[in-house]
Parts: sequence; C-alpha cells; structure tokens
Amino acid sequence: MVSGDAEKQAQVAVVMGSDSDLPTLEPAINVLKEFNLSVEIRILSAHRTPLVMMEFAQNAEKKGLKVIIAGAGGAAHLPGMIASLTLLPVIGVPIQSKSLSGIDSLHSIVQMPNGIPVATVAIGGGLNAGLLAAQILASNNNQLKDIIKNYRKKMRAQVINKDRILQEIGCKEYLKKI
Ligand code: RP5
Repeated sequence: MVSGDAEKQAQVAVVMGSDSDLPTLEPAINVLKEFNLSVEIRILSAHRTPLVMMEFAQNAEKKGLKVIIAGAGGAAHLPGMIASLTLLPVIGVPIQSKSLSGIDSLHSIVQMPNGIPVATVAIGGGLNAGLLAAQILASNNNQLKDIIKNYRKKMRAQVINKDRILQEIGCKEYLKKI
C-alpha cells in the first residue's frame, strides 16, 4: 500500500514483521506524510513470508525506493535480511516484545555482523526512524531540508515555552498542569 500521493512512487518503505508492529511504526508513517513524502507500507515476515520479503527487497531499488524502515520484534531478523538483499540504507526499529521488553529485538537488530549494516534506533523508536529516513532523503533535497529545519524550529519553540512557563509558575503548579 502506498499512502500519500498515489501517483508518486514512494521513496520510503515502512515494513514490519507483523501487523502487531504497526502501532510502533505509525509515528514514522505520520511524520513522513507530514513532510509530504509518500510511503509504501508492507507486512513482510522474514520467517512467515520469506519469499515475499526477498522479492520486495530485491526490487526495492529498481522501483525507486531510497530508504527502508524495517520494524521487527523478538528474533528480529527482518531488517538484516532485507539489508542483505539491497544496497538501500535500512533503518531497523526494535519492537518492544512481551517476554523481554524489546531487548531481544534491539540486540538482534543492532548486533549485525560486519559487512551488512543496519542503522538501529531505540526500542519503539518509530518516530526517529521516520526522521532519519527523511534526513537521508534531504541530503540532496533542499526543500525537504527546509521542512525538517522547520520541524526542529517548532520543537525548539515548544521546549522554550515549557521552560518559560516552569519559571513563571514553579514546579508544583507545573506538575498539576501535566
Ligand atoms: C515478529 O514477531 C514481528 O515483528 C512481531 O514483532 C513479533 C510477533 O508477531 P505476532 O505474533 O504479533 O504476529 O516477527
């Protein structure tokens, strides 16, 4: 599924091992859409649908994708398997698993052996994966660079405003407000 402008070939793919990963990846999808980027969203399991995953990874570059975000949990081999089949940068998102709180996912994704890198964000770090994908695309897109600068500017203003309120009303009153 390509969300955003249906006419436009997606430059970013957000893929996940299971639909149970979707809530973790939603912030990535949302921020990419906010930046006017179309996104291909897929459920591709490295162990349940390995051949579909292979076909996707082998054709990703040909069809115009530039970055792949891959979320997986447990023995999270999806990002590494995809990275082994394409030269596109792959950003892995460790999903918070029930049994080991995502430590299993984090170690599986971050500990890629030499030769096939996967950029790894924090456990549950969907938003940062989306932002990193946008920054990769912005390296040769000044319009996108401005959009990201503006996103950071808004974030900065929010923190400055929170600090101003904290100075004005003090800790006790501030805590009542949040
Ligand atoms: C992994 O197994 C998925 O990435 C998911 O995080 C985990 C659990 O999958 P479900 O049992 O919820 O389908 O492949």
